Amino acid sequence: IFVLQVDKVIEAFTLSDEKLMHLSTKLFEQLFKGLGQATNEEAELKMLPSYVTSTPDGTEHGDFLALDLGGTNFRIILVKITPNPNSNIQMDNQVYSISHKLMTGTGTKLFDHLVNCLWDFLVERDMMCQLLPIGFTFSFPTRHLGIKKTILVNWSKGFTASGVVGEDIGQLLNDAINRKFKNFELKIMSTVVNDTVGTMVSCAYDHHETCMGLIVGTGTNMCYMESQSNTEMLGDNFRSLEGEMCINTEWGAFGDNSGSLDEVKTSYDIAIDHNSPNQGEHIYEKMISGMYMGELVRRIIVDLSAKGELFQKVDEHSILYDGGFSTAFVSQILQPNIDATMTMEYLRSFGVTANIDDVAKVKKICEAVSVRAAALCAVGVVAVARKIEKNRGHVRMVVGVDGSVYRKHPTFKNVLIDTTRRLAPELNIGFEVSTDGSGRGAALVAAV
Ligand code: BG6
Ligand code: GLC
Repeated sequence: IFVLQVDKVIEAFTLSDEKLMHLSTKLFEQLFKGLGQATNEEAELKMLPSYVTSTPDGTEHGDFLALDLGGTNFRIILVKITPNPNSNIQMDNQVYSISHKLMTGTGTKLFDHLVNCLWDFLVERDMMCQLLPIGFTFSFPTRHLGIKKTILVNWSKGFTASGVVGEDIGQLLNDAINRKFKNFELKIMSTVVNDTVGTMVSCAYDHHETCMGLIVGTGTNMCYMESQSNTEMLGDNFRSLEGEMCINTEWGAFGDNSGSLDEVKTSYDIAIDHNSPNQGEHIYEKMISGMYMGELVRRIIVDLSAKGELFQKVDEHSILYDGGFSTAFVSQILQPNIDATMTMEYLRSFGVTANIDDVAKVKKICEAVSVRAAALCAVGVVAVARKIEKNRGHVRMVVGVDGSVYRKHPTFKNVLIDTTRRLAPELNIGFEVSTDGSGRGAALVAAV
């Protein structure tokens, strides 16, 4: 029988529930492994302690600056937290872009840029002389060494700025602040928080059952509340404590050492990894998150077009060949109200002449890549929820979620929620979007 290449690709991207459950069990095991290691050197999931041991209770108060680096944009937010009984949070938010040059240059230039933005932010608000504590949402893996020291373990998501890995992030920020604000003698206290942690804390402010923080944006990651008695990697002092601590799983690294994802990886996944600056790292993230979803679709399309199975004509300078093909494209193709003619026009803007048949195939490819991403994400949610249920018993669990893929992709969210329910019908899991939550959450953590 003649089987179309496109159908072979779709098949490779379609994972049965049985396979998904099998992967979920593997991820569940990796959670234990990460918690159990004193150095975490060999564990695949870093399970980084956040030292956040409680979620907000409405008594937090004060004015804070929140800096937010690591997603699509860099943001600065002025956060005003009013305590009980009229507890509320007001935010004044401004977005700044970070060029590829800054992401991949020197750490000094990167931090100087952050502080230049901060300067502009304060000047515009006539706040130059006010000392506000900073909650710094730094959406990368960091390890806390002592109360005030938070070092970057490794970069991800295309950042490679030199002189930052292994360094104290709060110190780098303070040094840059001192360079810029020479005459002001600012002594700003900064609290560094991962975006998952900020998202969870922020969501918990509105939904008390929140015990997980999920990001599906440029990257993907999850944090959750773990019993301190299980945090073997923290040593006996912490293990003897009652109560819980929020742990940043850094689940993007699932599959890095264990080979757990090898059986589901396609040649396109392998190619993406080979061409990334962090080769061999964050394999799970590369199969799920927004930084890679468009690129996966692009690689499939280029391959099928080279095999003569797609498109009558592709311009030599088509965007298809230079990687400038983003996940927003996938979202656009999957919009419920876009018809074949509109898609053809859209593809033409990429230098591609497509017929009705091509459009149907491109749509199928976008669907398959997106469904796999959401299903793989559900694999992780189920694993973490099972871990929480093991600790707490059968309780309602709310996942605070943020990130452009979760918020903007037309089908991701529903597939994630449906697959989670199908894989674990016995668990009581709710999803709450926490828009702009992680900056707000970092301010709440700083307030505590
Ligand atoms: C935001 C956080 O809310 O979500 C960022 O504040 C985070 O720090 C982001 O990285 C994820 O979204 P994206 O899609 O911009 O990567
Ligand atoms: C990457 C980072 C992680 C972050 C996630 C989502 O996986 O390593 O720290 O939480 O992206 O932004």
